[in-house]
Amino acid sequence: MAGNTFGTQFTVTTFGESHGAAVGCVIDGCPPGIDLDWDAIQAELARRRPGQSKLVTPRDEKDQLECLSGLDQDSGKTLGTPIAIMVRNQDQRSKSYEDWHHIYRPSHADFGYDAKYGIRAWQGGGRSSARETIGRVAAGAVAGQVLAARFPALRVTAWVERVHNLDARYAIDPTTVTRDSVDASPTRCPDPGFAADMETAILEAKKNGDSLGGYVRCVATGLPPGLGAPLFAKLDAIIAQALMSLPAAKGVEIGSGFSGPEFTGLEHNDPYAWADNTMTTSSNRSGGIQGGISNGMPIDCRVVFKPTATVLKRQDSADDAGNNVELQAKGRHDPCVLPRAVPIVEAMINLCLVDAFLQQRGQVGDPWPGLAGPLHGEG
Ligand SMILES: Cc1cc2nc3c(=O)[nH]c(=O)nc-3n(C[C@H](O)[C@H](O)[C@H](O)COP(=O)(O)O)c2cc1C
Repeated sequence: MAGNTFGTQFTVTTFGESHGAAVGCVIDGCPPGIDLDWDAIQAELARRRPGQSKLVTPRDEKDQLECLSGLDQDSGKTLGTPIAIMVRNQDQRSKSYEDWHHIYRPSHADFGYDAKYGIRAWQGGGRSSARETIGRVAAGAVAGQVLAARFPALRVTAWVERVHNLDARYAIDPTTVTRDSVDASPTRCPDPGFAADMETAILEAKKNGDSLGGYVRCVATGLPPGLGAPLFAKLDAIIAQALMSLPAAKGVEIGSGFSGPEFTGLEHNDPYAWADNTMTTSSNRSGGIQGGISNGMPIDCRVVFKPTATVLKRQDSADDAGNNVELQAKGRHDPCVLPRAVPIVEAMINLCLVDAFLQQRGQVGDPWPGLAGPLHGEG
């Protein structure tokens, strides 16, 4: 595998480089007959686009999508054939990379791509640029609509939980977070107090030619039990792979994650209880997944993004001709990737869930046992 495709039933191949003609995706395996809402897909791209606030890169891209295939020309419904979605790059400025393109940016992908391929698109970081994530967001929005047709109660909501040392984890009640409360601040942190402090911190880092990292949390509610698989395709393993595949991602937690050892087993277990023929748990430290299979509780995960690699202060580095040199990077960069990462994380969760759903339907049929309430007698 060359590493550009995700999924098994609903597959997404992304294409394009940051300063090439276009970026986008080819989706294969989308069910036929779906009337996609293209304005909603475009709205997701707007949440990801650069230039949306002073907290993100000023590269000015409209990111207007074009759908090239996969739709019935009469009804506009999906045909079940590959859906190709393309966004043309318009505001590339390769000149700002020209002077220093033989020098590897510390903690960026430049050296790795050279080491692997012996050639790389240095303009704007080529394929390692976050422009690649346009294809993920478009495909994730399509996946979200496929899921919504089957699970109307499903909500996948991500938000910025932490920037640098400003951690809003205990200030935010996940059950109250909505898309509107997330998008109310350009930081995409739904707690107004933390959002204001995060904004100040990001602007300060930007002024200093520096950058900040943080956490995005994502919760999916309204999903039934029974999705996922045992062992190598555990739903939590797939989610971890999906989120770790994002640029600048450095860690993933499911449920209690790395805080689990703070509890004893008795404290940590999620007690079961049937409520109105539905299985629930009174706590959700499992993050909605046990044994690799959803239990019907919210799927709850967190992804850590490092501080943006390209900073605008001088740094020690090395070039591709064997010299240790100083790097003075230029160009337009995100001082903090977190606000733009929110729709990208949601897209990856949608892609994981749609694939799990289509696998389940293929293997077990729909409806499946877990949708029926107590499974044996009166329970
Ligand atoms: C939304 C988003 C925006 C990003 N913007 C930048 C950027 O402006 N400059 C930069 O150096 N890295 C940026 N990155 C991260 C790089 O693409 C990433 O660090 C690089 O490809 C190296 O990969 P790795 O960090 O996963 O090892 C961004 C990442 C995301 C998710």
